[in-house]
Amino acid sequence: MRFSDAQIDALRERIRGSMSDYRFIHTAEVEKMAARIGELYAPDKLDILRAAALLHDVTKELTPDEQIEMLRAAGEDVAALELASHKTFHARTAVYAILRDHPEFAYEELLSAVRYHTTGRADMSICEKIIFLADYIDMSRKFDDCVKLRNYFWDAHPENMSESERERHLLQTILIGLDTTLSSLIEEGAPTDPDSVSARNFIINQLKK
Ligand SMILES: [Fe+2]
Ligand SMILES: [Fe+2]
Repeated sequence: MRFSDAQIDALRERIRGSMSDYRFIHTAEVEKMAARIGELYAPDKLDILRAAALLHDVTKELTPDEQIEMLRAAGEDVAALELASHKTFHARTAVYAILRDHPEFAYEELLSAVRYHTTGRADMSICEKIIFLADYIDMSRKFDDCVKLRNYFWDAHPENMSESERERHLLQTILIGLDTTLSSLIEEGAPTDPDSVSARNFIINQLKK
């Protein structure tokens, strides 16, 4: 393990003090869910998963203007990004905030899990998949779609599955999550993120095998 329990406990307290209670409750529940899923899929990466969960929404409470300013300062093509949903900016800015404020946690696997937690992407790593799903189905989520996906994932008892069944079950669950998000964005007439479309296409192809 890269991070000790004491380091993660200290990070949790720093995070608690840096955001609203509402956001912290969600963050702490994502940590628990990421660890629960991680026990089944990546027991050697629980420290990375816990820290990534604690850090995934660190910039969520900044205004869109503050997010854009951070992205511009980091040299990102803001004009291109403005075509996308502002809801996805915080996943990009969180990476810069981690490098600046929590450099001791700046491991590649953690940063990419944070970076892709809202959109997913093609060929996701195991940490990217787990943080994406944990953020969708954490116990603080009460929306119908989230409750349904949580039940879909756990009611199938992935803990009793063979390794290959369990892997397919994770992909299938993420696919339903992506379909649900993309469908509602289309319904609202909102832009969709190309990374989510790539993630969906990639998983559909993997499940065909
Ligand atoms: Fe988020
Ligand atoms: Fe979140």
